[in-house]
Amino acid sequence: MTAPVAAASGEFTIGGNLTVRRLGYGTMQLTGEGVWGDPKDPDEAVRVLRRAIELGVNFIDTADAYGPFTADLLLNKALHPYADDLVIATKAGFARTGPGQWVPIGRPEYLRQQVELSLRHLGLERIDLLQLHRIDAKVPVAEQLGELAELQQEGKIRHIGLSEVSVEQIEEAGKTARIVSVQNLYNLAQRDAEPVLEYAEQNGLGFIPWFPLATGGLAKAGGPLDQIAKEHDASPSQLALAWLLKRSPNMLPIPGTSSVAHVEDNVAAAQVELTDEEFARLTEAVG
Ligand SMILES: NC(=O)c1ccc[n+]([C@@H]2O[C@H](COP(=O)([O-])OP(=O)(O)OC[C@H]3O[C@@H](n4cnc5c(N)ncnc54)[C@H](OP(=O)(O)O)[C@@H]3O)[C@@H](O)[C@H]2O)c1
Repeated sequence: MTAPVAAASGEFTIGGNLTVRRLGYGTMQLTGEGVWGDPKDPDEAVRVLRRAIELGVNFIDTADAYGPFTADLLLNKALHPYADDLVIATKAGFARTGPGQWVPIGRPEYLRQQVELSLRHLGLERIDLLQLHRIDAKVPVAEQLGELAELQQEGKIRHIGLSEVSVEQIEEAGKTARIVSVQNLYNLAQRDAEPVLEYAEQNGLGFIPWFPLATGGLAKAGGPLDQIAKEHDASPSQLALAWLLKRSPNMLPIPGTSSVAHVEDNVAAAQVELTDEEFARLTEAVG
């Protein structure tokens, strides 16, 4: 049996016992405009999820807030009962008050409610990786992480991660709960999170770069990667993803797309191997 395409991205073990193929998939594009409501083509959304799995993806990032609930219900529809090796990482901590509107809420009772709803919508008894979508500045960090740690003790969450945080915030959160991953904005063109990536490498955390394709800016024809991509016989999005995979063994990119053609293009990035020289050229050309 030949290995699935995504296997070429290698593996990373989250939290010491959750092994995933490094190139994953993110569900945020499977909703309507403004990450609100149903997608234009719900049948294509189901096909995208099933195709990702066929290609060997076994790490999917989602959130209660995508829709809200739309992406999680699509995951359930497309993939339940889930394969044993599939890891669904979800998030809680944002209220949605309308299209394009995101309001951080870290009150313990809200986080608990959202975890309970995610379990129900996803059809799971335990969430493998629950990421606090944002730390809510209005609520003490220890209260937010304390509630997640309690849910962990109750067996409803296996591992806890953070999103869009500084090194100081990871350390502060780590006083209350064991943090195994961090998800920050990071791609070839936006590298402000470099110190957090280095911290993740030093401390064995998974680093999940969101907007790995600069929300499409790195993937488009005529974009900054177009010329180098032509020389390399790869698509611009494949180069952007191959660069991330080479940048760090802790890197777990989760490109999002609403189309089967693009999921095929993106997963094939696992097989694009950059030489050190090509990596350096991309780093300079786009940085
Ligand atoms: N933690 C956070 O706060 C946070 C914030 C944002 C996102 N996220 C997570 O990160 C994931 C990735 O972010 P994202 O989906 O917003 O942005 P992204 O992966 O950087 O880019 C997605 C965009 O690129 C396009 N695209 C994808 N593959 C392509 C290809 N091969 N060729 C041409 N265009 C392509 C998509 O359009 P098509 O649909 O037409 O392919 C879409 O417009 C999300 O799905 C979500 O899980 C997390």
